[in-house]
Amino acid sequence: RVNPLVLGIETSCDETGIGIVRGTTLLSNTIASSMDQHARYGGVVPEVAARAHLEEIIPSIEAAVAEAGIRLDDIDAIAVTNGPGLAGALMVGVGAAKALAVSLGKPIYAVNHLVGHVGADLLQNPESDAGATSLEYPTIALLVSGGHTALLLVRDLVSDVELLGETIDDAAGEAFDKVARVLGLPYPGGPQIDRVAAVGNPKAIRFPRGLSLPKDMAKHRYDFSFSGLKTAVARWVEARQDAGDDVPIADVAASFREAVVDVLLTKAVAACTDYDVPRLLLGGGVIANARLREVAAERTSAAGIDLRIPPLSLCTDNGAMIAALGAQLIMAGHAPSNLEFGADSTLPV
Ligand code: KG4
Ligand code: ZN
Repeated sequence: RVNPLVLGIETSCDETGIGIVRGTTLLSNTIASSMDQHARYGGVVPEVAARAHLEEIIPSIEAAVAEAGIRLDDIDAIAVTNGPGLAGALMVGVGAAKALAVSLGKPIYAVNHLVGHVGADLLQNPESDAGATSLEYPTIALLVSGGHTALLLVRDLVSDVELLGETIDDAAGEAFDKVARVLGLPYPGGPQIDRVAAVGNPKAIRFPRGLSLPKDMAKHRYDFSFSGLKTAVARWVEARQDAGDDVPIADVAASFREAVVDVLLTKAVAACTDYDVPRLLLGGGVIANARLREVAAERTSAAGIDLRIPPLSLCTDNGAMIAALGAQLIMAGHAPSNLEFGADSTLPV
């Protein structure tokens, strides 16, 4: 089937994302976030996220359908994230998707959230300069958000995606959020750190680059670790405070940001070089980071790698990327999912 009309549902973390695509054309992308409700806890609270999805999901579907200018009954299929992510949050999306599939009599496709992020690069959004782009194979994808940090080798979106490495502890966005807290900055910490780091010296303090020592690179060449970095920042700040000195927040933020960005891009470029893949795709909310974008542009251009960054509304968690992946599965002739599938918080790619 050519250019199917697909409704995508994404509820793996704190965004209730509903997207509608026709093939690779984006028709609507509605996002309701429960971020504000998590702010006082300094991180996403799973049950709060699940309850928010339950409240938002039907209004979001209605809004996405209206924005796309279609009738719900017109859709050819439903695609839904069934992992990885927060179990309770996933269950709300999966439950809603199944109910919709049964009531409308439409096929349903359960898809992987990380692969969905890669699918975002297929979408031709008339309102963005990503306009006439389309995903090329093979590509290395670096996905960095508050919930995941992963390097993928994508040979084919619907049939050949390999996880090269991932974080062994905190996600990169989580590290930003935790370090922001240490510095007394509000949640979510990523944008705050980015803001104060702009006037800091990234070379002021040399913070550790996790898993980049030669001995770690042998076993964890493409894996990430940010908990040691977070602890190093906290210790450094405490030592200053104990000595009664002011904490140079801008320098700490800039030095921390530099450490995260350096290790992310060192490993991403290493993967491109090792696998002889001249393309790097970025995804996830941390891609908003100004320094990450700068260093990514510098290093990929120096290494002759084509850098691809979808518009931010498609980098953060959203339903359109899930719909886009569903459309690819249909066009590749994949059978729909059996209605008995569950939600799997650790679903492999
Ligand atoms: O993809 P996303 O919107 O959703 C979840 O992971 O739920 O990513 C949110 C994460 C948060 O940890 C936030 O602090 C981080 O992305 N983030 C940033 C920036 N903007 C958002 N991290 C670093 N620099 C930024 N400018
Ligand atoms: Zn995500």
